[in-house]
Amino acid sequence: MSAYEIIDHTYDVLVVGAGGAGLRATLGMTTAGLRTACVTKVFPTRSHTVAAQGGIGASLGNMAEDTWQWHMYDTVKGSDWLGDQDAIEYMCREAVPAVLELEHFGVPFSRTPEGKIYQRPFGGHMSNFGEKPVQRACAAADRTGHAILHTLYQQCLKHDAEFFVEFIALDLIMDDEGVCRGILAWNLDDGTIHRFNAHQTVLATGGYGRAWFSCTSAHTCTGDGNAMAARAGLPLQDHEFVQFHPTGVYGAGVLITEGARGEGGYLTNSAGERFMERYAPTAKDLASRDVVSRAMTMEIREGRGVGSGGDHIMLHLEHLGADLLWERLPGITETAKIFAGVDATREPIPVLPTVHYNMGGIPTNHLGETLMPTQDEPDKTQPGLMAIGECACASVHGANRLGTNSLLDIVVFGRAAALRARDVIDPNTPHAPMPKAATEKILDRFDGLRHASGSTPTAEIRDAMQRGMQRDAAVFRASDSLTEGKKNIAEISKGFSDVKVSDSSLIWNSDLVETLELENLLACAQATVVSANAREESRGAHAHEDFPTRNDETWMKHTLAWLDENREVTLTYRPVHTWTLTDEVDYIEPKERVY
Ligand code: FUM
Repeated sequence: MSAYEIIDHTYDVLVVGAGGAGLRATLGMTTAGLRTACVTKVFPTRSHTVAAQGGIGASLGNMAEDTWQWHMYDTVKGSDWLGDQDAIEYMCREAVPAVLELEHFGVPFSRTPEGKIYQRPFGGHMSNFGEKPVQRACAAADRTGHAILHTLYQQCLKHDAEFFVEFIALDLIMDDEGVCRGILAWNLDDGTIHRFNAHQTVLATGGYGRAWFSCTSAHTCTGDGNAMAARAGLPLQDHEFVQFHPTGVYGAGVLITEGARGEGGYLTNSAGERFMERYAPTAKDLASRDVVSRAMTMEIREGRGVGSGGDHIMLHLEHLGADLLWERLPGITETAKIFAGVDATREPIPVLPTVHYNMGGIPTNHLGETLMPTQDEPDKTQPGLMAIGECACASVHGANRLGTNSLLDIVVFGRAAALRARDVIDPNTPHAPMPKAATEKILDRFDGLRHASGSTPTAEIRDAMQRGMQRDAAVFRASDSLTEGKKNIAEISKGFSDVKVSDSSLIWNSDLVETLELENLLACAQATVVSANAREESRGAHAHEDFPTRNDETWMKHTLAWLDENREVTLTYRPVHTWTLTDEVDYIEPKERVY
């Protein structure tokens, strides 16, 4: 028996995470009359959604003609045909009502002179099935995520949603039939342990960018939901697909929005050449992110990088003028000053591709329900568990996400999960008893880490993992580097058994929090390198130098990485959905992807 006293809670729904996805789900579930608790490790408005800048994609057509079918086409093409087209159809169709709903909730969008929501161009968003760039990103200056997150939180408060803030989710509680019954969590503020019993648990924990050394992600992006799902026996889908944002500030990794190029910014090499014209003659600097990040990396590799080390690229905004920059891009103008020491109204900003987004995650359907695929039933659902946002893989982004589709994903699928919960949960149903053994097992693991008395500090293991991932799970990959990366991360993961936690206190113990997070990151990193090593083709963000072309015949399938207790990985695969949800749109056949 564990020595921990447990405080029990019972809810209809439990949402883990309070970024845009978690808040949109919490709001929808609360207003549907479901007793909903939102458990979050940081104060809601500090969630990583706050950092999203350039816009949320929706074919409102405020600036020029646009349709959700064109948006769907661009998203499928952006995904390099790994996205599930039923889910993509759902997201692009629902984008319009979801954004109008945000407007009515009070999101302070920028406006056109006529008072409509302002929309700017973004990479890979085109009109008329790939013809020319279209203005589809609905923007609140360059602080769109901030505006959405604060508005959703205020709406949640207005509707008396319940929050458990600065609670660390330890693990999912699964019963003997494999049904998720809730979670166990640790309250950092007073050191108490809490058990939440709910009819549905919704994971909305964000990505795992912090597995890399340089990323645009917050320090909180540690793949907690992905790892909890993996420990509960679910697979992690498509973890090899990792997005590098073309414009992280050189040396700092901080994001400079793609909206900067949407407003007319452009990239140059050491010769001052606008090199994107060679790589993407139509979309140029507004090609999709994988294309631009590869082009930048090629320029640097071939000796046309900028600076004394020839190791970065320049982003020009100075020609746009100070008035436009201060009106439309005030945040990144400040960012350039603070992190690069550059006055963007006068001089270019040094930039470099930086890890930004995880396309892979916990497999779900378009309703937000998690999947436990089998050979015979690749779309089999996992009872009691949902996942939404970056921790999930619906899969609407496939092998490469289009900019603005992440804010869209969190809002559309947060809303979808709320609608589904409303339909399937009867609030009067009694709760199933909590399985005792599962609670004990989670507490044993927690207690083991709390008293871990090895010889390697958490920070040392994390540093080794981050440097290894940066080197081997990079923009370009090759058989050698992937084999080496797989071996290296496996060794680092094994070395975690020697971790040393220097503080066993239960109150505000950041060493223990970081150790729990590191264990989660290691699970995600393992799934990433093993999945990447196996995929012998190039598709979207997975650019494999020994297999430079896409191979639909063999590889148009989702990777499923199953982790055992030692984080060792077994891979299986499931088919990509080659159907649409309705007959309003046809399946988009694979073709060559050019911009
Ligand atoms: O560039 C950006 O503003 C980021 C947007 C996104 O990742 O969707």
